[in-house]
Amino acid sequence: MRKTLLLFLLVPFFVSANYWGKTGHRVTGHIAENHLTGKAKRALKDLLDGHSLAFASTFADEIKADRSFSKFFSWHFVNYPLDVRYEDSKKSKFGDVVMGIEECIRIIKDKKSSREDRVFYLKMLIHLIGDLHQPMHASRVEDKGGNDIQVQWFGEGTNLHRIWDKNLILSYGMTYTELADELDQVSRKERKKIQEGTIYDWVQESHEICGEIYGSAEIGEKLGYQYSYKYNKVLFSQLQKGGLRLAKVLNDLFD
Ligand code: ADE
Ligand code: ZN
Ligand code: ZN
Repeated sequence: MRKTLLLFLLVPFFVSANYWGKTGHRVTGHIAENHLTGKAKRALKDLLDGHSLAFASTFADEIKADRSFSKFFSWHFVNYPLDVRYEDSKKSKFGDVVMGIEECIRIIKDKKSSREDRVFYLKMLIHLIGDLHQPMHASRVEDKGGNDIQVQWFGEGTNLHRIWDKNLILSYGMTYTELADELDQVSRKERKKIQEGTIYDWVQESHEICGEIYGSAEIGEKLGYQYSYKYNKVLFSQLQKGGLRLAKVLNDLFD
């Protein structure tokens, strides 16, 4: 009886790991799916064994439970001073989200790569483009991307990082397909504009938003409806950009 009780108390602790929550990643994957070329669709169908991009998008978080994949941990984010551009920053010797994305693209493109590697790095890539658009994943090192900044969300303890990984998204109470359908209402012209630029421009955008977010809450602050109202536009725009840019990266890759 005691053991069961302990398990119930510990389960929420273990499942609340830090990631642009599953919903965020799936929204990005689902939006991307609507903007693929025929060629990219066929290549992805083959490599993902018919699974959707939304389904594949959470793989890189799932493997975190297996220590043999620990070298990929640092690929989920990048930290550098807020007033510095990524290009001018000191790079981590363990790699970061930008280096991770570049490595995935290199391996998938390489004709000599095994099918197993191409599948693995494709699933990583789908995930990492999502992470790149979570502002607190293009962050600063002092507080581990806001993980050390404790705040309250509707009366429950959380931190500034997790607010952006999942609290804001989940409080909307919509499924990933509902959110993706709402966020995919863009004109061709708007889509083209969003898909412009490079990974370096995209990480800079996230990094600048991250800088604003640090000014948005004090340690211990009680956040709720007002915060959600203030930042939902930014959140939705990042999810939408992540989806459209993921499609662009995949279309270029399988051209
Ligand atoms: N750990 C350290 N920095 C982090 C960040 N920016 N995002 C997620 N996890 C982290
Ligand atoms: Zn995260
Ligand atoms: Zn991640």
